[in-house]
Amino acid sequence: MKAVRSPAELRASISDWQRQGLKVGFVPTMGALHEGHLSLVERAKTLADKVAVSIFVNPTQFGPNEDFTRYPRQEAADQALLEGAGGDLVYLPDMAAMYPQGFATSITVAHVSEGLCGACRPGHFSGVATVVAKLLLQGLPDLAVFGEKDYQQLQVIRRLVLDLDIPVRIVGAPTLRESDGLAKSSRNAYLTSEERAIAPRLFQALTEAAVSLRAGLPAGQACLQASQSLLRAGFAKVDYIELRDAQSLEPVDHPTAPARILAAAWLGRTRLIDNLPVC
Ligand code: PAF
Repeated sequence: MKAVRSPAELRASISDWQRQGLKVGFVPTMGALHEGHLSLVERAKTLADKVAVSIFVNPTQFGPNEDFTRYPRQEAADQALLEGAGGDLVYLPDMAAMYPQGFATSITVAHVSEGLCGACRPGHFSGVATVVAKLLLQGLPDLAVFGEKDYQQLQVIRRLVLDLDIPVRIVGAPTLRESDGLAKSSRNAYLTSEERAIAPRLFQALTEAAVSLRAGLPAGQACLQASQSLLRAGFAKVDYIELRDAQSLEPVDHPTAPARILAAAWLGRTRLIDNLPVC
């Protein structure tokens, strides 16, 4: 697997492949790779001839009190995992490659970035949109794969690419889960063993709420019940549990068009997110 560190090397490698008639898939990550990320690489491999993966812990998507400094960094282990998963190229830009001296541009994707995680993490989606726009424009792959686990992020990126005519197809990949239902996440590593035992309640509460919603319970009631069950189980705080239109992320009362129930809740110092399709 080839490793490159500059935007020019990334672009040269990808355009070389494209000149040979090969289709290139791209998986942007912040490292601390787990099977969830590797499933994105696998998905990209089914759709493309070559797969490039970026690893960059993006400071602009972390709030001042968030975990940027303690976010796990394990470049060598990540490269070994990617090699094993059949990645063809890893892109490891440094801070100056992504945010050169004097960097002054930020992309805001209105509406779809607002509410949910956007309300709890001000500036987060501008940080994501800005870095993803840069990564896609630096590499210009044919397609890029993002996990549905970060569902709001996926919708923000779809909107961004459409609005800015970025010529890259965006593919969403289903959330990979542990056997007890917990969505795989780099942040699961922060959980104590007690918290880890409680964590699958998030998936269970969403599953139960989805069943109630399909049976006709109004969203407000179904989401309140789910939230109360999390607090009873030992979650410290629920940031939100909401039913939203699956594409626009506008709030909905009943799942008529495709809808998604989304949640973020705290177990101790760790914030977990998850979401499920409702219809
Ligand atoms: O989902 C992530 O890991 C990050 O938000 C992303 C898309 C790599 C941007 O930094």
